[in-house]
Parts: sequence; C-alpha cells; structure tokens
Amino acid sequence: MKRTLVTCALPYANGPVHIGHLAGVYVPADIYVRYLRMRGEDVLYVCGSDEHGVPITIKAREQGCSPQDIVDKYHRLIRDSFSGLGINFDIYGRTSSAVHADNASAFFRKLYEDGKFVTRESEQYYDPQAETFLADRYIVGTCPRCGNPNAYGDQCEKCGATLSPDELLDPKSKLSGAQPVRKKTTHWYLPLQDYERWLGEWILEGHKEWRGSVYGQCKSWLDGGLQPRAVTRDLDWGVPVPVEGAEGKVLYVWFDAPIGYISNTRELLPQSWEQWWKSEDTRLVHFIGKDNIVFHCIVFPSMLKAHGGYILPDNVPANEFLNLEGDKISTSRGWAVWAHEYLEQFPGKEDVMRYALTANAPETKDNDFSWKDFQARNNNELVAIFGNFVNRAVVLTHKYFGGKVPACGSLSEVDKEMLADIPALKASMEENLAHFRFREALKDAMGMARAGNKYISDTEPWKAAKTDLARTATILNLSLQVCADLAVAFEPFTPFAAEKLRRMLNVGLDAGTDHRKGEQETENTYRPDEGRALHTGEHATPAAIRLSWDVLGRPQILPAGHGIAEPELLFAKIEDEAIAAQIARLEAIRKQKEEEARLQAAMQVPAQKASCSFEDFEKMDIRTATVVAAERVPKTDKLLKLTIDTGMDTRVIVSGIAAFYTPEQMLGRQICILANLQPRVIRGIESRGMILMARQGDGRMRFITPQEVLSNGAQIG
Ligand code: 2FM
Ligand code: ZN
Repeated sequence: MKRTLVTCALPYANGPVHIGHLAGVYVPADIYVRYLRMRGEDVLYVCGSDEHGVPITIKAREQGCSPQDIVDKYHRLIRDSFSGLGINFDIYGRTSSAVHADNASAFFRKLYEDGKFVTRESEQYYDPQAETFLADRYIVGTCPRCGNPNAYGDQCEKCGATLSPDELLDPKSKLSGAQPVRKKTTHWYLPLQDYERWLGEWILEGHKEWRGSVYGQCKSWLDGGLQPRAVTRDLDWGVPVPVEGAEGKVLYVWFDAPIGYISNTRELLPQSWEQWWKSEDTRLVHFIGKDNIVFHCIVFPSMLKAHGGYILPDNVPANEFLNLEGDKISTSRGWAVWAHEYLEQFPGKEDVMRYALTANAPETKDNDFSWKDFQARNNNELVAIFGNFVNRAVVLTHKYFGGKVPACGSLSEVDKEMLADIPALKASMEENLAHFRFREALKDAMGMARAGNKYISDTEPWKAAKTDLARTATILNLSLQVCADLAVAFEPFTPFAAEKLRRMLNVGLDAGTDHRKGEQETENTYRPDEGRALHTGEHATPAAIRLSWDVLGRPQILPAGHGIAEPELLFAKIEDEAIAAQIARLEAIRKQKEEEARLQAAMQVPAQKASCSFEDFEKMDIRTATVVAAERVPKTDKLLKLTIDTGMDTRVIVSGIAAFYTPEQMLGRQICILANLQPRVIRGIESRGMILMARQGDGRMRFITPQEVLSNGAQIG
C-alpha cells in the first residue's frame, strides 16, 4: 500500500485563521489524516506558515515593526489555534526558516541552470524617492471606476474592481508619497505554455476523478492557454534570487510557498524526506481552498516537472468558500469567527466547531455558517444523540453491572437489526472518505449513534432490569459495543470526544507511526509531551484493548467482564445566551458597515449636468418665502401641503418632503422656492412653485434656507 503525504495550504502569517480556512482546508485534511492513520496507513501531515509576500511587508509598515515581527506573531498564533483544535501536523514549519531558504534557492538554481526559465524585461513602477520598485499594492490613487481616492494598484476595495497601476488616476507611492515613474526591470519567468500539453494529458486525461470544480478550473485555464509566469519580484522581503545580477530581487511568494511543503518535510525528516517526495510509492494529496487551485494544479506541478524527480499530486480536494451569517467572510471588516477567539470563548468545545464545520462543509458549493445552526448541531445532534446514547449505556452499566461489560445472551430481531446497521454505515463511510466526501461520512457516523440511541430507547433496558436482568445485560453489552464503534467512527471528526469516550471505555487507540524516529526534533515539529498530540500521546498509554478502523463493526470488541471507567459527559448543551452574544457581535459589525456605506454614499457627488446658458438661468425666478401653514396631504406618505408667504402673494406648494420633515418642523421656516415653475395639480391641489432642496448621495434631503432671515420675496441669483 502506498504511503500518503498530506499537505495543507500554508496560511499567510499576517493574520489569524478563521472558520473559512478551517472548513475549507484544515478540518477536512485532519479528518482524512486521522482516518488513514486509524487504518494503519503510513501518513505524513505537513503544513506551516507562508511568511513572504507584499501584504506582510505592508502590515509591518503600518504597525511600525519588521516583517519578521509580524510573521513571528502570527506564526505562533496560527500554530496554536490549529493544535487547540486538535489539528496536529507532524510539522508546522515556516517559509522564513533557514531550511526553506536553502531549499527554495536550490530549487530555483536547478531550474535556472537547466535553462527552464526565460527572462523578460518589463517596465514597472518605481519610487524615485525611496529608490525602490513598487509592488502594485504599494501604489495608491483614484479609482477610475468609482472615484475612490484610496484605491490600490491592483484593486479598488470600495467598488471591488480589479485594477492595474496604469489605470489609477494620480498614482502615488505608499512609501514616500512621490509620484512613481516607470522603470525597466528584468525578471525570470517559467514558460507555462511549454507545459500545457503535458498538463492536459496529466490532468484532463489522467485525473478525471478529481472534484468537478477542480477539474473544471484546470480545464478552463488550459483551454484559455497558459502564459509565462514571473517567478521573481523586486522586493526586499523573501528568499533572495540566488543568481548573479539579481540584487534586490526575491522569489515570488507563490514560487517559494509550495516549495515550503518540501522544505518543511526536509526540516522534519532530514534523512528520509525524499521517500515522501520522490518515490512512486507515495500519494501526494494537497488540501486547499478553491482560490489556490491554479497554483497547486498548474503552476506547482509545472515547477516540479521542470525540476524533475518529484512526484505529482494524486488529488487536490479543494473546497469552495464558507460564508458567515449570509455574508462573505472578510478579515478587513472583522466579519469572521477567528479560531483563537473561538477557543478562548468556547473552552472544551473544540469538537463542536469541527463538527459544525464538517456537517456544513462547502464541498461542492459555497456554504453558510450560522451560530444558530452551530447551536442546533451541538444541542440536537452531539448532545441529544451521540452524547445521550453513550451516557445512557455507561451509566446503566454502572448501575446494574458495577461498571463491567455484561455478558451478551441470545439475540432478538431488534438486536440483529441494530447490529446490521453498523457495517452498512461503515462501508458507506469508507466510500465517502475515500472520495473526500466528509459531510456524508459524518452523516454515516452520526447514523451509527442514531441507531444506538434508538435501540436503547426502544429496548428500555431499565424496564427489562425489573424482570429480566439477562436481557438488560444483552442490551447493554450491545450498546457498549456500539459505543466502542463510535469511539472509532468519530475519531476523525470529534477527536476530543472520541478520546474521552475511549477513556470511559478503558480502551486505547492504534493510530499511525511516528516518523521522527532517529531524526532530530526542531522547534516546529510536533511534540506529544506538550500535550498537542492526541494520537502519539495515546501510544504511550498501555491499554489491553486498542481500537483501530478494523475493529469498527466487529462483534464483541469489548469482552464481557471488561471494566469501564466512570461516566463523563461527552458534550454539554450550548445555551441561548452564548449564541446571542456571538450574533450581537456580528450585528454590531453589520450595523457599522451599513453606517459606513451610508456615509460613503452620502459623500458621492453626482457628475455635473450639461451646461446651461445665462439666459436659461435668468428665466428662473428664485426667491425667499416663509411657510405659514403646513399639513400632510391625506393618504400619502411623502407629500406636505405648504402654504407660503412669497412677499408677492400667499400660495400653496405641494412638496415631497414628508420623508424628511414633519409639518411642525416646516412651520415658520424661511425657505427658497422656484416661484415661476408652471403650476401643477397634485392630488387635487394646485401647486404653484417648487421648494429648493439639497440631496446627498445617500438620498437625504434638506431644504435651503438663507443664513439670516430676509424679507420674503427677495430674489436669488
Ligand atoms: O492562499 C493562501 O493563504 C496561501 N498562503 C496558500 C499557500 S499554499 C502553498 F502553496 F504554500
Ligand atoms: Zn473603485
């Protein structure tokens, strides 16, 4: 059987990870790894921080610190969030490490020496004051689409337009404020078009089994024709380009980051890493989000092919995106649930988030996370079905049989039916997990708990105990066997509960090999003694019975007479208050956003109208007047009937200002009117003139009043 190398997209170390990241990449990967390990497969699980790229340098500049300070902070935060959720990589490395600098440089140099790159000269923006080339993000100017004066050279965050620096009006360097100039620069490019035919055969012919969305994206890239991709940048943060004449240039972050998977493996296993990357006996599986598909299916494989000697991904089960309460997750707006905050606010509920994210995983389409659904998943499924069933089985075993697994007698029909459910659900789970269908697999696991819970409700062992203790023994024996099944089936999904359950059942777990034997530990490798390990921690615990995937569904996993431990609650109810607090936090953000949008709209200034002649203007008779009576026009929301003194006469104007002023607010106010507008009959009332109003971009209107009270009928113009 092949060994499996599982990689997870390296998160950028410039912010914390949120539930979108978890649902898209890390929870499914962790489920997969735990499952394979329980099957006894040889798995290596690699991730780490992506610590290069322009946004990190921008954040450092904004915060007045170095890029290294930024990545140090977020590397630790992200690593601890993962381990807090039971996502325990064999290594969580970093692309600012020395191993990575060596490895990425050597990779580049090999391609360079083998003539796999082309160089191209192009003109790029340059800051003459700061004497440096400017990444697109370092150029700000006015958006040509919406007029936002703070648009970036690659995107306008106000209207969402994708831009190039050339399109910005009045571009300025973010570094010095100077006007950037165009300057020639040379970069190295990987000519992806040379790999097009090969990619077509490898993916379109050879990997028809990939997820439709992944396959479809690859096809559309290939159908559209590939272009050379620059693999270097003019920047001072990154892996320096290791060839002569490349001063001031670094590897492009998307060139160095995927090499990070290899570097991190090398850091973990300096002596044996090659078997994971260079042997056809290894299956490579990349877990990523859909925005990373092109890099993992087209660019990185082309790099590996150009280098030679490396295996290619066997599958890339990319997920779609997760939304939050109906809106796109946005880190800049704070519209997110951050992993580290969740862990602080919901201690002991790591599994609940893992469960909710899997039950709602965005596997085939974008999905939504809502706190109500989260609560319902916990209270109605984890607590009411899984937890309730286990609790009843364990408590009753203590009550009637002193905490020892009772003997199983002859089986009735209802026993046989329940027992038959388990292997059927196991087979379905295996099929689903093999095809990366984690939400379906989770349904199967919960199906087992449901079957057990129904069985114990239907058979009522507490009633049988009054007349037939042998029957109670059989029911509880079988129920405890199902508990053991659940301890296996839920290990990939809810590892904390599965571990608790194994403790209650007094059993251990067989799950995988420790690959670090004989290798040096580094600060980024997984250390079970820190309590980060669930698997490895348990290896050390001697237990007579060890669970593995194989035992799931087997009869009599727990022999009669086996002593079990005291009951513990697997899950606790989540109260409405905890959910309301989360919803209130998001509501506050939503309100703030609406307010910001309103303010922005208010600032919108419509374009000037076509010019008019002085004569046109002179035709308008604009004057001051005072409101002497005001009332609503019956059966309308918008209209006020205003009686006004114009100095010339007293007349009526019907005006659509009821949305902005009450009759009381208008009474006695001096206003400006267009006096000679042709009379119109509105709702049966003759309206003679128009009140001058100013309208803001958000639609808010105010009447115009002279700064001091003037005599009525004063002419304006
Ligand atoms: O999209 C991202 O968050 C990237 N940092 C993923 C990199 S994956 C790999 F190539 F390193
Ligand atoms: Zn714009």
